[in-house]
Amino acid sequence: MKEIVIATKNEHKVIEMKKMLEPIGYKVLTLYDFLELPEIIEDGETFKENAYKKAITLSKYLNKDVIADDSGLEVFALNNEPGVYSARYAGENVSYEDNNKLLLKNMENKTNRKARFVTTICLYRLDKDPIYFEDYLVGEIAKEYKGNNGFGYDPIFIVENFNKHLAEYSLEDKNLISHRGKCVQKLINYLKE
Ligand code: IMP
Repeated sequence: MKEIVIATKNEHKVIEMKKMLEPIGYKVLTLYDFLELPEIIEDGETFKENAYKKAITLSKYLNKDVIADDSGLEVFALNNEPGVYSARYAGENVSYEDNNKLLLKNMENKTNRKARFVTTICLYRLDKDPIYFEDYLVGEIAKEYKGNNGFGYDPIFIVENFNKHLAEYSLEDKNLISHRGKCVQKLINYLKE
């Protein structure tokens, strides 16, 4: 069985990835399987740079194949901010609510409310060049909160063509349309080939 490490401690990501990778012959390890890990500062200017940095650092340290991802929200009227700063838009150690509040404030006078979520995955294998996968979820920044599911910017993100906030989707339905869900599917299709 081929071993592969997913560079995450996020339970949702672990469960989803295991469900998809185990049936195609992978033994999936996560960051919970290692006692010591190098510190990785996500200071890249793009999602791709951050995903690559996580993947190569862990792969070299653990001597294993690694899958790493980086995601965020790009708002067109704000020059694609928060982008790689999505998790810390309102500062270090802030809550999702702090980030949402700041985003709504910065969008107060904006008529163009178009935005998209982005996920980039880096597949870093010891004996091969890195490979990247990317996908998007397009929509708009809402003016009010709606929905109790999901996390992050989900309550203020309206999915294009569906007029529904992302936080109103069940996790299963979100995975079918989301940037992350579609990106992971691209990775799985590649590994299946
Ligand atoms: P990560 O790279 O998956 O940890 O995502 C970084 C940040 O982007 C998160 O802390 C959220 O603020 C935001 N983000 C990424 N994906 C989503 C999503 O599916 N819904 C809402 N916010 C997200």
